[in-house]
Amino acid sequence: MILHLTGTPNPKQELFFAARARHIAYGGARGGGKSWAMRRKFVLLAFRYPNLRLLLLRRTLPELNENHVLPLQRELNGAVTYQATQRAFLFPNGSRIKLGYCDREADVFQYQGQEYDVIGLEEATHFTETQMQFLTTCNRSVRSDFTPRMYYTCNPGGVGHAWVKRLFIDRDYRNGERAEDYVFIPARITDNPVLLKSNPQYLVTLGNLPEHLRKAFLDGNWDVLEGQYFREFDRSRHVVSPTGLPKEWKRFRAMDWGYNDPCCVLWFAVAPEGKLFVYRELYLRRTLSSEIARQVKELTGNERIAYTVASPDAWQRRGLKGAEGESIAEVFSKNGVPLLAADNARVPGWQRVREALAEAPDGTPELRIFETCRNLIRTLPMLTFDARNCEDVGDACEDHAPEALRYGLMSRPRPLPPEKRKQPYRYDPLRAVPEARPGFRGL
Ligand SMILES: Nc1ncnc2c1ncn2[C@@H]1O[C@H](COP(=O)(O)OP(=O)(O)OP(=O)(O)O)[C@@H](O)[C@H]1O
Ligand SMILES: [Mg+2]
Repeated sequence: MILHLTGTPNPKQELFFAARARHIAYGGARGGGKSWAMRRKFVLLAFRYPNLRLLLLRRTLPELNENHVLPLQRELNGAVTYQATQRAFLFPNGSRIKLGYCDREADVFQYQGQEYDVIGLEEATHFTETQMQFLTTCNRSVRSDFTPRMYYTCNPGGVGHAWVKRLFIDRDYRNGERAEDYVFIPARITDNPVLLKSNPQYLVTLGNLPEHLRKAFLDGNWDVLEGQYFREFDRSRHVVSPTGLPKEWKRFRAMDWGYNDPCCVLWFAVAPEGKLFVYRELYLRRTLSSEIARQVKELTGNERIAYTVASPDAWQRRGLKGAEGESIAEVFSKNGVPLLAADNARVPGWQRVREALAEAPDGTPELRIFETCRNLIRTLPMLTFDARNCEDVGDACEDHAPEALRYGLMSRPRPLPPEKRKQPYRYDPLRAVPEARPGFRGL
């Protein structure tokens, strides 16, 4: 059996291979050969140290398969056993490379109590700081010939932009983090002659990007994308022209109450396969709750609405003029719009929005927005990270429509991960005919 470990590392990849720090990041521009280097380093380590335990992670399963499982299978060419159920490569010397993904925030907890000598985060800026910190606790070793190491590859932008930039670019250390533990190797596409030769058009494509993306992806500039919270939002994928939605689809509403600040109400429809459409918005400032309730009813017409969730402040008694000390929720209820208190967990809620915007396995996002919902479309991409809590949205943002979106999404069950989704029905004679089932003992 011959390994297909072809290629010679370029000088930056050599630096990546040679680094020995506790945390080693290789990042910046697109196409520099980061994923190649990560895969190759993992294979080299696995061969070099017997019984080494390595974990290589990406945020989603399709990315993991495309970027690592398939290339590793090709490169290792059967010389290493691949256990498909475990998604693990078992080396003849006892080393093991496990591949995994952490689609949801909580998916990292599946690694609780496990120990890995080496952990790699591919596209580290797609991971949250909490996920990274938790994974660091699994990166430990009892061996004397190897000290645990974390490897990161990354491009600017994404949910983890802030922590990657803080640790590896700004080198701003806190709470016992030590500067000498962090090494950053900047990547440039011009470092990768293989790609430039095989696909010269790629450089032109990067050069033609809008300025901020070009600076980030071609020049590896970490400042331009700083802050944007939902980098996943993409008009061409998430915004659609209004169409008539089938009457039988489930519908519900979500509201972020406000008087001096705008009040935003969103209408949602659920397609049978679980995809969501935000198909209407109401965005009003300095309007009494009774008037908003009236407009909500009027706009809804004869659509059947299952429920309306609202921000918890709708239950405070404010004594607003016209509300006579009643809570906003009571006023809405009296005016024919009963409200349910929304789940107001902020970080999980934003994470839920992020999941709904992300590419689903079928190539379309879970959430789409009618282009008539102008304020939601305007403000969602304007949200920025909170400077103090890099997993939350900053409180200076105009976030009323995104908050209503978050409440709406949190009122829905989460879609199942791909491997738990029901498989399409297939006729199976062994199931259809009782006599044919194993162990059948008569009717
Ligand atoms: N040293 C090398 N020898 C041979 N091929 C290489 C080498 N380095 C990278 N490549 C090839 O160049 C292409 C781009 O590399 P890779 O996917 O690793 O880049 P990347 O920096 O991870 O890109 P992205 O930023 O898009 O994630 C791939 O086809 C990869 O196999
Ligand atoms: Mg890559």
